[in-house]
Order: sequence, then C-alpha cells, then structure tokens
Amino acid sequence: MTRLSVNINKVALIRNARGGNTPDLYQVARDLEAFGADGITVHPRPDERHVRFSDIPVLRDLVTTEFNIEGYPSPAFLDMVCKYKPDQCTLVPDPPEALTSSTGWDTQKNMDFLQDVVKKLHAHGIRVSIFLNAEPELILSAKNTGTDRIELYTGPYAESYEAEREAAIAPFIATAIKANEYGLGINAGHDLNLDNLRYFHQNIPALAEVSIGQALVSDALYFGFHNTVQMYKNLLK
Ligand code: PXP
Repeated sequence: MTRLSVNINKVALIRNARGGNTPDLYQVARDLEAFGADGITVHPRPDERHVRFSDIPVLRDLVTTEFNIEGYPSPAFLDMVCKYKPDQCTLVPDPPEALTSSTGWDTQKNMDFLQDVVKKLHAHGIRVSIFLNAEPELILSAKNTGTDRIELYTGPYAESYEAEREAAIAPFIATAIKANEYGLGINAGHDLNLDNLRYFHQNIPALAEVSIGQALVSDALYFGFHNTVQMYKNLLK
C-alpha cells in the first residue's frame, strides 16, 4: 500500500495572507485525516510564509496518522525536529530563500554532514528520508548516509509526463529498483497530481509514500477536501 501524505503548507499560506485563523490549519489537518489521508506533511521554511515553527507542537499533538516534517537541516530546524519528534523527517537541500525544493541532495559531497544529521535524528527515534534525484548512481551513497528512505524528487517526471511518459518514468524505475536492492524505503513527491500519479504508482516498485501539496490543495478548491483525498487515494489502489 502506498500512503498518501498531504502537505498542508499551501493551506497555511492562505491563512497567513490575512493574519487571522482562516482557514483553520489544525482543523484542516484533522479533517484530512478523517477523509482518509495517511499522513500530514509540513515544510516550515525559515521565513515562515507557510507552516510556522509555532504550528509544529500543535500539529504534533493532533496528528494521529504519520507526521512528516521536511526541510533543510539547519541547527534551528534540527533542534525543532528533535524536540517534537515527528514520525519522519525528510531532509531537503533547499537554501532558505528557495520558493520550493527543486533538486535532491548531492549525497557524495554532503556525506559527512548527512551522516551526522541522520545519526542525530535516529538518536531521537525519528525515521529519516532524504530527497534525491532519480539517478541510480546516487543510491549507494544515499545508503551510506544511514538514511531509512529516499524521497524521489518527481518534478522532472511531472514536467515530461505528458510529452513522453515512458522516458520520464525510466530513471525513476531504475533508481527505485536499486533502492529496493539496497533496502532503502521509497517515498516520492513534487508536482504529483491527478493526471500523473497513477502511472507513477503503477510503475514504481514498493512505493511507500507520496507527499502531495500544491495540486491536491488546488484540486480541493474545486472538489472539496473530502472528494479530493478520495480521488488521490483511488489512484494509489
Ligand atoms: N516533497 C518535498 C521535499 C517538497 O519540498 C514538496 C513541496 O513542499 C513536496 C514534496 C510536495 O510538492 P507539491 O507541493 O508540488 O505536491
């Protein structure tokens, strides 16, 4: 079974636009779980334009499915994660000012750093996933970081899906096969949507989890969260 973790950053973005509490981020998280989401993902960025650091303890207490915090492992981020102990922490290499994550780790170049971070998170009982481009040759060094899982960066797949989906999925299949060989769990995320998700899911062996925000929240403007979560879950059957 592939789990659907809903990234609620864009819900927080709307809330933050007016300074009040509409929409109520915490109620949305509760409702998403009630509607069938298997997890809630947040990406607190340093400028706090999405989910804020102060949201984390509240969400930690109310999320009953899998709580995943993603972000760049700065000292402040790591302190926060180790304090609130989500089920999973996804490490992304994006600089503080980035609009969104747009590439995975260079696991060779950042090996010592990632090994230290993974060790620290494991010492707090937190499962670790590292954001990775679909390049099979990165798997050995990803494994050597000590991470439990990789999260495949699916932006390039989504971009090429319509024009040439077989070519688009090929490096993801090759990377997933290698990750399976090395015993790494596989997550995926970025730009997945109602059009491209089924094909991705059908072709990636042992896909543990997808994390979806932008498209799912946008679809919910038309269909509502209840319908939308069901539509995404149906694609993962
Ligand atoms: N995974 C990571 C590491 C991300 O940074 C994001 C975006 O915050 C996502 C998944 C979800 O991407 P999208 O919002 O395009 O669904």
